[in-house]
Amino acid sequence: MAVDLLLGLQWGDEGKGKIVDVLTKNYDIIARFQGGPNAGHTLIFDGYKHVLHTIPSGIFHKTALNVVGNGVVIDPVIFKKELENLDKHAIDYTSKLLISRKAHLILPTHRLLDAASETSKGKAKIGSTLKGIGPTYMDKTGRNGMRVGDLELDNWKEKYDSLTEKHLKMLNFFEVDIQFDLKELEAEFIKGIDKLKTLQFIDSEEFLNSAIKEGKTILAEGAQGSLLDIDFGTYPFVTSSNTTAAGACTGLGIAPNRIGEVFGIFKAYTTRVGSGPFPTELFDKNGETMASVGHEFGATTGRPRRCGWLDLVALKYAVQVNGVTQLMMMKGDVLSGFETLKVCTAYHYKGKEIKHLPYNIEPENVTPVYTEFKGWEADLTSMTDKQELPQNLKDYITFIEQETEVPIKIVSVGPDRKQTIMQ
Ligand code: GDP
Ligand code: IMO
Ligand code: MG
Repeated sequence: MAVDLLLGLQWGDEGKGKIVDVLTKNYDIIARFQGGPNAGHTLIFDGYKHVLHTIPSGIFHKTALNVVGNGVVIDPVIFKKELENLDKHAIDYTSKLLISRKAHLILPTHRLLDAASETSKGKAKIGSTLKGIGPTYMDKTGRNGMRVGDLELDNWKEKYDSLTEKHLKMLNFFEVDIQFDLKELEAEFIKGIDKLKTLQFIDSEEFLNSAIKEGKTILAEGAQGSLLDIDFGTYPFVTSSNTTAAGACTGLGIAPNRIGEVFGIFKAYTTRVGSGPFPTELFDKNGETMASVGHEFGATTGRPRRCGWLDLVALKYAVQVNGVTQLMMMKGDVLSGFETLKVCTAYHYKGKEIKHLPYNIEPENVTPVYTEFKGWEADLTSMTDKQELPQNLKDYITFIEQETEVPIKIVSVGPDRKQTIMQ
């Protein structure tokens, strides 16, 4: 098998960027398969922090090729900024960053439509990152979108103009006051396009399948998390792509029988940014401690992340939907010093106790049932071997492995590349 997948199992921000960076040395190609600049993947090494939004997290390694797959949506404006950040660190990406011709483009007016749609929803807003993700995927499935490959045609500006015009009419529908200067937005967009065109555009499904035939190894990098999946997440409080394993097949053009390992990554507790149900959310001191010790602020929007106990009902659901073969547990270090830890192992739902994720997990429908664990005091951040971990943490890990029936192969004990315990 040539393609392994790495996917977030919760509501995003599990630490995907960090682990992809750690694993890149084992792969020839790293490929992003869905999402767009709503993602914020943080990598910390050699005293620097890097946040990537669209570019795969293998870009800092010398040899690996990085592919932005057809399932991704690209905002040329944000992409240009990402490339400029790489320039600052003298990272040579020109020969190792390849863009699928079939990836869709986020236009400035997609961002405006996102803002108008959210504003019009009032209290029911999704809490979108406002990067234009929803409207861009709507144009993709509505068969109106603009793709990277269009930029190689002489008439791409005509296509852009006609789509923009349509969007401006749609904006009126929302009857909300969104201020913008289209000329300015357009000028910025064109600069982004010019920068994007300096990179290599490829038929990525052809490229990746040829690589597989040649025996190359590929790691597919997910964005967001399973509970934000358009089909299997907490709809409508989700993103607009398939964040789960099947999304890697459609987002890269790779057949299911080419998939090898499915790495599922989760935090030792749970976070969520944006609106929507979150059964184990904490509104007390414990939640505040997780947020402050874990620096739980969105890597893309800077918004505070909501925090809560680990939800095993939701985690098992994500393991099942993705066919996870190996688990990776992040941010265990944040839980040091808690006297007692709770893990949600069932829900009270309509007078019964259930162990699966029901259709509706709003607070009025589900109450979590918890199993308690003794906490640990030890600081984990300089530990390098699983044997060093405190016994109470080992018990916590064993319990999760038994419940999910999947081994935990990596325990991450800090944000740095080096703070990673591999089994
Ligand atoms: P991603 O979107 O899944 O790549 O995750 P983000 O980068 O948005 O959020 C994860 C945050 O946790 C980042 O700030 C990371 O630097 C940080 N982080 C990752 N792993 C660990 C860990 O094991 N311990 C701690 N304390 N922080 C971590
Ligand atoms: P990474 O890859 C966490 C959330 C938003 C919002 C919902 C819809 O860093 O894990 P969208 O902008 O897609 O319309 O927002 O999804 N969201 C994320 N939350 N991490 C992300 O990405 C996210 N991408 C989107 O907060 O609730
Ligand atoms: Mg993130």
